[in-house]
Amino acid sequence: MTIRVAIAEPRNTSYDILIGRGLLADLPALVNAPCPAARYAVITDSHVATLYGKKLVARCHDATLHAELFEFPAGEANKTRETWASLSDRLLQRQFGRDCGVIALGGGVVGDVAGFVAATYLRGVPYVQVPTTLLAMIDSSIGGKTGVDVPAGKNLLGAFHQPRLVLADLGLLGTLPAPQLAAGVAEAVKHAAIADADYFAFLEREHDAVTTGQPDALEQLVRRSVEIKAGVVAADERETGRRAILNFGHTVAHAVEATVKFAVLHGAAVAIGMAYEARLAEVLGIAAAGTADRIRKLLERYGLPVELPKSAPADALLATMQLDKKARAGTVRFALPEAVGRMHADGSSWTMTAPERVVREVLAGR
Ligand code: GLY
Repeated sequence: MTIRVAIAEPRNTSYDILIGRGLLADLPALVNAPCPAARYAVITDSHVATLYGKKLVARCHDATLHAELFEFPAGEANKTRETWASLSDRLLQRQFGRDCGVIALGGGVVGDVAGFVAATYLRGVPYVQVPTTLLAMIDSSIGGKTGVDVPAGKNLLGAFHQPRLVLADLGLLGTLPAPQLAAGVAEAVKHAAIADADYFAFLEREHDAVTTGQPDALEQLVRRSVEIKAGVVAADERETGRRAILNFGHTVAHAVEATVKFAVLHGAAVAIGMAYEARLAEVLGIAAAGTADRIRKLLERYGLPVELPKSAPADALLATMQLDKKARAGTVRFALPEAVGRMHADGSSWTMTAPERVVREVLAGR
């Protein structure tokens, strides 16, 4: 199955997302047309290198594609400019030229860092996203936001750089540990909550099939989430408007991740963030009564956390949000739902501020 991300403006950077089983084995044949290159740098982390990376490079050689593996230590704590610099230096040492391409093989961290290397290497080379986690397949591999975290906040250094192709091989989900699968489902719940009430009902109804990894259910989940993400991104690539709805749950999530120093998976932090931000939307009179409860219950059913970790109390989170706001020279803004499947627009803006007192009360569970 192919879903196209149709980006016409400011220039045509459209690309296909291929969804299927066994696509990784076909990668050498699939990358050539959308991302032709004399040499490919396969960038991955220490975990995925062992699982799939070495085999992929061997397959490329069999297909007479020149590919080399570049790995860095796994984990969000390594989504840093040091990792970006080290990878870039290693490509330079290996004399990769402007005729090279990058293959980002891994989860969200790999996709963001490898994409940023591709965006900046010799002023930009093409790249392909090969997501290996559910979260990366349905969310982070699509959209072209690349970058790294810095002490002042998450994703503060980066670039828009759309991939030439996304290969979502559903067969890879079989080796995914349950917490990683649940973390991906958190982004699926987000897609449903922001754009499609029927999809939300699907996630409620098909809970058992999804959690036991039934192929049909997972395929439907990936397809619908990818359609939603691709549609939102294509209509507003640079996030000047509606693309901001994809940030539902993320204002709180980013503060949680920074406060606990990434001791929680991004998807789990997004689940916590959605639970609190949906409640905030109700307290502010934006969301229909019962919206927050329904979202919270679904997240809980999928084994996702919906309470703040003890190490991230309301005061600490507010302080982190203020730091992030200062770093961005802006205000703390939230993308909030009106109902399951529909987001709130404040005039032409899809995000809004909230009185600090109300945010504090909601985070404190009052
Ligand atoms: N790389 C994730 C996004 O663009 O949304």
